[in-house]
Amino acid sequence: MRRKMEHMKNKSFLFCFLLICLAKICTSSPSPPPPNYPQNQIQTNPSGKKHFVLIHGAGLGAWSWYKVATLLKDSGHNVTALDLGAAGINPIQIQQLRSISQYVEPLTKLMVSLPPKERIILVGHSMGGAVISIFLERFPEKIAPAVYVTAYMSGPTLKYSTILTEINKRLDPLDTIYRYDNGTNNPPTSYLRGPKFSALKYLQLSPAQDKTLVSSLIRFQPLLNYDVIKLTKEKYGSVRRVFIVSGQDQTIVLDVQNYIIRNNPPDEVKVIIDSDHFVMFSRPLKLFFHLQNIAEKYS
Ligand SMILES: *[C@@H]1O[C@H](CO)[C@@H](O)[C@H](O)[C@H]1NC(C)=O
Ligand SMILES: *[C@@H]1O[C@H](CO)[C@@H](O)[C@H](O)[C@H]1NC(C)=O
Repeated sequence: MRRKMEHMKNKSFLFCFLLICLAKICTSSPSPPPPNYPQNQIQTNPSGKKHFVLIHGAGLGAWSWYKVATLLKDSGHNVTALDLGAAGINPIQIQQLRSISQYVEPLTKLMVSLPPKERIILVGHSMGGAVISIFLERFPEKIAPAVYVTAYMSGPTLKYSTILTEINKRLDPLDTIYRYDNGTNNPPTSYLRGPKFSALKYLQLSPAQDKTLVSSLIRFQPLLNYDVIKLTKEKYGSVRRVFIVSGQDQTIVLDVQNYIIRNNPPDEVKVIIDSDHFVMFSRPLKLFFHLQNIAEKYS
């Protein structure tokens, strides 16, 4: 009898325990689902860890992300920072670079190599925005979300060339050097920002060490016409987007960033009020916190 009571007690205890577990599962919707839980057939990492792919701006390379990439890796994310054509330690020379497909090939290779159901968080800085826009069109099902860090957020309703014009209207090129590989009767084919431009327009709020790094590693940027790739509402428009505003940017000034946001509205706008154009150098922690937050909220 006693043993039976004991057994019943155990049973009801087990029952209560199961009830509590069930209630927990039902009410804790914001926490990630347990492993093996099917979630719309999309492969999400149960630990909340994501794959960030970081695309540099004009003249820069994967190296420009060294601070943010480290912070993201240390919090367990998979991080891929790429060198596009003729950028960073990519062996192609600027005079050999002829096409957009050649320039963006490292990212194309990565996208096609991803496991079928994996979704990445694709981040573009500055002119890298025009690059990631193309990939929103080509691989919409593989990106969730796209993040534009004070970037050329071209889209179906806003052309790359329009953004370029708006930027150049307000920007003194200072000691920028141009190459004319199509002959001097044709438009320039690439450009290199000089030390004066870097100091005044790029890095006025960044540490001196990062200014030295930029002056050592910056390369010529190809001038490519991204408008030849049509961006559609159906494909590009199906990917969620976040724009990160840089408050003290002297290259893509606040007026232009607001113009971009107005003409191609993203799902969300985040603001870093005290960063220069190189957000990843001047305010890496704030950028990291935003990316971390985006990883939790989207995808
Ligand atoms: C990170 O992503 C790369 C590229 O897709 C992949 O090869 C690698 O296995 C991933 N690493 C982890 C730890 O998931
Ligand atoms: C240079 O010439 C090539 C071949 O005619 C053309 O495809 C390319 O768009 C030109 N580049 C620029 C920046 O005008």
